[in-house]
Amino acid sequence: MSKLLDVIRDRRSDRHFANKPLEPDTVEALLDAFRWAPSSNNRQPWRVLIASSTEANRIFDDALSAGNKQWAPVAPLKMVIIGVPEEQPEKNGLQNFMLDVGFAMENMMVQGYAMGLTIHAMAGWDYDKICKGFAIPGNAKPVALMAAGYRGRVEELIEEVRAKDLKPRTRKAIGEFTFRDAYGTAFK
Ligand SMILES: Cc1cc2nc3c(=O)[nH]c(=O)nc-3n(C[C@H](O)[C@H](O)[C@H](O)COP(=O)(O)O)c2cc1C
Repeated sequence: MSKLLDVIRDRRSDRHFANKPLEPDTVEALLDAFRWAPSSNNRQPWRVLIASSTEANRIFDDALSAGNKQWAPVAPLKMVIIGVPEEQPEKNGLQNFMLDVGFAMENMMVQGYAMGLTIHAMAGWDYDKICKGFAIPGNAKPVALMAAGYRGRVEELIEEVRAKDLKPRTRKAIGEFTFRDAYGTAFK
């Protein structure tokens, strides 16, 4: 099987980051992978806000949930992933901009893993603090935060977080989510 499948399968959301900044070319490659994601009608309804200054880092860290505050603040690259719903109209009651943004995030995570990074998406953060802190206008929606960096030493994490990173990764078996011909009919 292709090496790409190995990268997809091995990519993981680690929480241990090395104390090493990312080179500008590396950040550029991540953004390049992000922007080449597919989107409905190629509308690309996304924005990426990189927290760079000390103050932006403070805003980012302050908005994190208690659990994420235990590990994400040391990441050298912090991003707010934003979707613009009006650029991708809702269809069948579905917020399609979220789908597009999700594809782009996964592109970035897979590219990052292939370059020796770990990139961790987060849903645990305060929406109002992010909008206010980063002056995000009302027509744009922060969708996820991402913390990225080279992988560090898992031993350096506090015990509670280390346990999460050492937990074996699991997935549903293909037969648990794949149907043939009618919803609920086993594929195999
Ligand atoms: C949209 C999204 C939000 C997530 N939010 C958090 C989070 O707030 N905190 C956290 O520690 N992990 C978070 N994760 C990481 C998931 O827990 C992780 O992807 C999942 O357990 C599968 O592990 P893997 O990415 O190593 O395969 C999030 C992942 C995604 C895709």
